Amino acid sequence: MAKRQLKLSAFTPASSYHQAGWRHPQADLSVYEDFSRWVTIAKKLEAAKFDMIFIADTASPAKASEPDTFRRLAGGDQFEPMTLLAALSAHTTHLGLAGTIPTSYRPPYDAARELLSLDRISGGRGGWNIVTGISPDDGAQYADQIHPPQSERYARGEEFVDVVLKLWASVEPGGYIRNKETGIFKDLDKIHLINHVGKFYNVRGPLAGLPSPQGRPVTVQAGQSEDGRALASRVAEAVFTAQSTFEQAKAFRDDIRSRATAWGRNPDHLKLLPGVIMVVGETRQEAEDKWAEMDSYLDMQAAMSALQLNLKHVDLSAHDLDAPFPKLPPEAVVSRGSHLVEAAKKEGLTLRQVLVRSAGANAHFTLKGTPKDIADELEHWFENGACDGFNVQTAVSPVSLDDILEKVVPELRRRGLFRTEYEGKTLRENLGIPADPIPMRY
Ligand SMILES: Cc1cc2nc3c(=O)[nH]c(=O)nc-3n(C[C@H](O)[C@H](O)[C@H](O)COP(=O)(O)O)c2cc1C
Repeated sequence: MAKRQLKLSAFTPASSYHQAGWRHPQADLSVYEDFSRWVTIAKKLEAAKFDMIFIADTASPAKASEPDTFRRLAGGDQFEPMTLLAALSAHTTHLGLAGTIPTSYRPPYDAARELLSLDRISGGRGGWNIVTGISPDDGAQYADQIHPPQSERYARGEEFVDVVLKLWASVEPGGYIRNKETGIFKDLDKIHLINHVGKFYNVRGPLAGLPSPQGRPVTVQAGQSEDGRALASRVAEAVFTAQSTFEQAKAFRDDIRSRATAWGRNPDHLKLLPGVIMVVGETRQEAEDKWAEMDSYLDMQAAMSALQLNLKHVDLSAHDLDAPFPKLPPEAVVSRGSHLVEAAKKEGLTLRQVLVRSAGANAHFTLKGTPKDIADELEHWFENGACDGFNVQTAVSPVSLDDILEKVVPELRRRGLFRTEYEGKTLRENLGIPADPIPMRY
C-alpha cells in the first residue's frame, strides 16, 4: 500500500493571515486591485502540487457600524469566492478550488447551483466550506437583519446541507439526452423532484445543471463547538479547525473520527486539516525576529475586535491591557477562544499578550523556525494521529507562502511526506475521498 501522505490546502493565500501582516514592508496589497496576482499564486500552488486553494469568506466587511475600528481593520476589499474560484479554474488544471458559502443567510438552492457550476466548469475540482457564518455583520446585509444564535444557526445548517445534497443528487448522469430526432430533451427517470418540506426550507427541485464530474463537490466543514462537531462528523469530507497544540489536535481528530464511525462512515474518508501558520528563517532566531516584526505593527483596537468574536457577552475593552487576562466563566468563551484562555491561564499572560497572540495566529498551530524544525513538527503531528494534512495560512502574503513553497514543501517531499505528482484530476481523487453516501437527517 502506498505510504500515507499529507494533504495540503492553502487558506486564502493572497491575503496576510496575521492581522497586521498587511502592514509589513513586503506585503503585496495589490491582490484585490489586480486579479493576475491570484493567478500567479494559484499557479505556484499547483506547481507545488497542493491539493487545493481555499477561499474563506464573510459576506460583509466586519465592524462597519464602529467607524473607528472599521477603518483600522484589514479586509472588506475581497472578491466573492465562487466568482474568484471559477476565474482561477481557467488558469489551472489540477488544483482543487474550495470556498465558503454560509448556511444562515441565502437559500440552499443558490448554494447548490453555484457550487455545482464551479465543480463542472473546473472539471471536478470544486469544494464547499460549510459554515454557519461567524460574523454578526453578515446578518445586517440580508433582509432579516439578524445573526441567529448559534444553536439555531446549526439547526438551519443541518437542514441546509441535506437540501443541497438532495439537489445535487436530483440529476443523474444521462438525464439530458437532447435527442434531435425524437424531440425529447430530458429522460425523466433520471431527473427528479426532491419535494423537500422541512422546518426551515421547502424546495421542489430538480437542480438546474448536470451531475458533478467527481460525484458531487467535496464537502468541507469548519466548526468547533458541540454542534459544529456533530455537523462535521456527519457531512464533512475534509474538516478545517484551529488547534494550538498537538494534544488538542489529536483529541479533536479522535473525536471527529469516532463520531463519523457512529454515523456508519469510514473515518479514513474524512481528512482533518488543522490550520498552521509558519514563518521560516535561516535560523530560529531569524524566524522569531520575523514574527516579532509582524507583531510590532498590530493595532490593539483591531486586535480586540477579533478577540471579541471568541467571547460571548463579555466586553474586555475597559480592562487594563497590562493586567493579567481576567478569569472568565466557561460559558463566555466560544470555540477556539478556549485555546487562548487555556494558554493565558497556563502561561500567566496579560490581556495585551493574549491580544497579540489572538491577532497573530488566532489560536492556530504556529511554527517559527528553520525548514527542518518546521518539517519535524508537521511530521510529528501527521505521524502521530493529530491530522491528515494542513490548511496552510500565509502570515504575510506572498512572501511567507514563497518561503513555505520553496523551503518547507521540498523538505516534506524529501521525507516522502508529500506527493511529487497529482494522483488524479479531480479534487476527490487527489484527496483520496470517494463520494460515499452521506447519512441524511432530512
Ligand atoms: C480554517 C477555518 C476556516 C474558516 N472559514 C470561515 C469562513 O470562511 N467564514 C466563516 O464565517 N467562518 C469561518 N470559520 C469559522 C467557523 O465557521 C466556526 O465559526 C468556527 O470554527 C467556530 O466553530 P463553531 O461555530 O462551531 O463554534 C473558519 C474556521 C476555520 C478553523
